[in-house]
Amino acid sequence: MIRTFIKSQKWLSRKFDLLLPAKYRRDGNRDYIEAVVPKYLAHDDTVYDIGGGKRPFLATEQKRALNATVIGVDIDPVELDLAPRGAYDKKICADIALFSGNQDADLVLCQALLEHVENVEAAFASIAAILKPGGLALIFVPSRNAVFARLNMLLPHSVKQSILYGIFPEKQKKQGFPAFYNSCTPAGLKKLAAANELAVIEERYYYASSYFSFFLPVYVAWRLWVLLFHALVREQAAETFCLVLQKPVR
Ligand SMILES: C[S@@+](CC[C@H](N)C(=O)[O-])C[C@H]1O[C@@H](n2cnc3c(N)ncnc32)[C@H](O)[C@@H]1O
Repeated sequence: MIRTFIKSQKWLSRKFDLLLPAKYRRDGNRDYIEAVVPKYLAHDDTVYDIGGGKRPFLATEQKRALNATVIGVDIDPVELDLAPRGAYDKKICADIALFSGNQDADLVLCQALLEHVENVEAAFASIAAILKPGGLALIFVPSRNAVFARLNMLLPHSVKQSILYGIFPEKQKKQGFPAFYNSCTPAGLKKLAAANELAVIEERYYYASSYFSFFLPVYVAWRLWVLLFHALVREQAAETFCLVLQKPVR
């Protein structure tokens, strides 16, 4: 009964979104997967998948087809062990904030990683050190400014688990890691990029999120907030965003 009700509310929320311009409906993570990474990933690349854990960005077959070398760096050895066989050519169990890179990456992927890192400043220095001159870091991150991020920081883990996973069981596979969102705003990460001499060569902002779609009145209220917030602070109001950063060639 409750499930059917929530399903109907999600459907209504999607219908409501059709009233808004398309840019408010674009899913950030999907855009990262389908448009951003394919645009920059090249044959024979050495790729560092940071925080790839049990869900490496490239499937083993894709990796082979591209002749890519993929190095998985993750703080959690269990996550790395759960990754599909052959997806990583090398696994490194390390906190990215403490990792010393040796400038051998063509591409660094950080998909839904930085919100879980406490010392994002140190993580940025590590990412810069991992990249070859001319190498690219492709970052996808939920913004600290999003309402769901604020709630995520406020609610105790047990409450989150019962509410969130009750409503969105599919999110259980991807989430459940503690999140801090330190510096995770467009302005915060661009400042860290500049401090590490990484040039921002592309930035994409997204205003879609399904968290409040379980009850249409809450969804509409959240949507009105997003529209107002966007009108006031532009891209700082994004729910999620991507940055493409490049290490200069000297
Ligand atoms: C939400 S999962 C993202 C997994 C995958 N990138 C994806 O998008 O599906 C976050 C991952 O980051 C890892 N992680 C969290 N903090 C980290 C840190 N400081 N250094 C390296 N990895 C970390 C976690 O162990 C986990 O595998």
